[in-house]
Order: sequence, then C-alpha cells, then structure tokens
Amino acid sequence: MPDRILTNQDFERMVETSDEWIVTRSGIRERHISDDQTATSDLAALAAQRALKEASISPEELDVIIVGTASPDMIFPSTACLVQNLIGARNAAPMDLQAACSGFIYALTVGKAFINSGQYRTILIIGAETLTKITDYKDRSTCVLFGDAAGAAVLRPAEKDEGVLETYLGGNGSLWHLLHMPAGGSRKPASHETVDQRLHFIKMSGNEVFKAAVKAMGDAALKVLQKAGMNGQDVDLMIPHQANTRIIKATARRIHLPMDKVYVNIDRYGNTSAASIPLALDEARRKGKVKPGDVLLLVAFGGGFTWGSALIRW
Ligand code: ACO
Repeated sequence: MPDRILTNQDFERMVETSDEWIVTRSGIRERHISDDQTATSDLAALAAQRALKEASISPEELDVIIVGTASPDMIFPSTACLVQNLIGARNAAPMDLQAACSGFIYALTVGKAFINSGQYRTILIIGAETLTKITDYKDRSTCVLFGDAAGAAVLRPAEKDEGVLETYLGGNGSLWHLLHMPAGGSRKPASHETVDQRLHFIKMSGNEVFKAAVKAMGDAALKVLQKAGMNGQDVDLMIPHQANTRIIKATARRIHLPMDKVYVNIDRYGNTSAASIPLALDEARRKGKVKPGDVLLLVAFGGGFTWGSALIRW
C-alpha cells in the first residue's frame, strides 16, 4: 500500500464527520492514499513482484495475469497489460476482471478453472485499486471509507484436497445503481457537464448496500461450505472483504464462527476493494495466523452487485 495515511482526524478537518461516527459505523481509523504519480498498475506491479519472489517464480514463467480492479489506469488498455510490461512477463496473456470488491475471488475462481482445464499452469492473480482517485472528498458518506492497495498471488496446480478446494460466485445486476461511477464510460462520456456534476466519482447508497452485503456475504460463506461438505467449525480462519466491521461480524455469525477466527484489518486500511482480501491474507500469513493445513474461508461482496467465496487448504 502507499505510504501516505489519512486518519479520521484528518477527515474531521475536511468534511462534517467525527472519528466516533466513522469508527462505530464502519470500524475504520485510517487508510493509505496514493499520490498523483501512482496508478493502480504501479501498486499491482509491486505486489506482483513480491509474490513472484516469494514463490521463486520468474516473470517469464507466467502463462496468464488476471487483475481484478474497479479503478484501472485507463478504460483501455487493461491494467493487466500495463502490469505485464512493468514486470516483464512477456509470455503471459494479460486480462482485467471487473467485479468491484469481489475482484480477487473472481480472479481466483477463473485462475483455478484455467489450471483445472489443463490449459495453463502458472497464473498470477492480483487485486489492485486506487479507489481514492475516484472518491469525492466532498461527499462524507463515501470519502471516509476507501483506501488504496494491491495484493497478488501465484497459482499453480495442487494435489487433491489441497490448495483452492471450492469457490462460489454470484451477482445481481438489477441493483447496479446502488454503487457505481456514473460517467466516463459509453453511457455518459466525459464532458464539461459530467465534471461539473461530479459524476466521475463513486456514488453509493450506503445503507442499501450494507443490507445487501450482510445477506450476500452470509449466503456466499454458507454456499461454499456446503459445496465442500463442511461447516463453520471446519474453518480455521475467515478472511473477509474489509468494507465494514459490522458486515464482517454478521457474516461470522451466519456460520457460527467466533471473531477470534476472523481476520480484520479494516481499522488500518479502510475498504481497499479488490485488494482487501489478498492484503489481509498476506498480513495474516506474516503474523503466523495461517498454518499449513489450515482451512481458510475467503468471502467478498462488491458493486454490481457481485459476491463470491473460496475455501483454501493452506
Ligand atoms: N460522518 C457523519 N455522518 C455521516 C457520514 C459521515 N462520514 N456519512 C453519512 N453520515 C450520516 C448520514 O447522512 C445519515 O444522516 P441522516 O440520518 O441525518 O440522514 C446517517 O449518518 C446514517 O447514514 P447511513 O448511510 O444510514 O449509515 P450506515 O449505518 O448505513 O453506515 C456506511 C454507512 C458505513 C457507508 C454503511 O452503510 C456501509 O458500510 N455500507 C456498505 C459499504 C459496502 O459494503 N460497500 C461494498 C463494497 S464497495 C465496492 O464495491 C467498491
């Protein structure tokens, strides 16, 4: 994640809000913000290089790069193409996958399917965002929520009953309008009017998104456990998308999982969208909270709406 941090106290000076409101409603205390020179592909390439180094894999060995992002550098080319160039992965097929905050689970699922089909062997999946570039710092209902980050993982074939055991994806496009960026695409191309009307920023109906997220994340957690013939007691650690501590707690309750088996770092990073799960997974691993053989439950919800879950035996 970038170095610069914005605290709740900084927001108290920018909009009409309070540390107390932000912490009780969302669980966020601070978030990292990228500077003007840093785009999503820059964070993504850094995360990719670190993942490749830890996996002892050279960039040339990559067959595919999948970047889950809702804040690409440009409409085209894809951010994955830019990452391919930055890391020198000249043999890889690059592609972006747009599933907002569920982007990493979607990328994981597509990567697993490519490997299972036998078509490809080494796949780099990345969740990367600079949502703060499309955040309206005059809108207190959204600006306090988002932070920038990237996380990456290398996928390779695993033994039976190891690695990614099951995944589940879902969505409901009829509710797209509850969380979207209105302008800059083919529906409303950029114009003086769209800029004046602040349409190049995230618009979110927070409370309605909140209710949908609680239901969909709980359902997704249950669905993937059912697919694997497991229940909450089989889970050693849940790594949820970090949008709101209240959503995370409700998801844990749905599968009867105590909070000491849930990894939460939203207080320090805010909602980093597609980056939040790989960021939390990496942090949990470094802190020794993930041991070989552990069953991890990843679960996410995002704009679209999209949602998804994955079970991993580490
Ligand atoms: N400071 C102070 N007051 C605020 C702020 C703020 N920053 N923001 C909103 N308020 C006010 C509202 O104006 C409202 O006031 P009113 O009652 O006078 O109208 C009041 O607080 C309550 O607002 P709600 O939106 O109902 O508050 P809620 O409890 O729902 O919390 C929140 C808001 C934190 C945004 C929550 O709804 C949430 O987390 N939503 C889900 C976010 C999410 O999961 N997004 C999905 C992924 S993001 C992606 O895909 C890119």
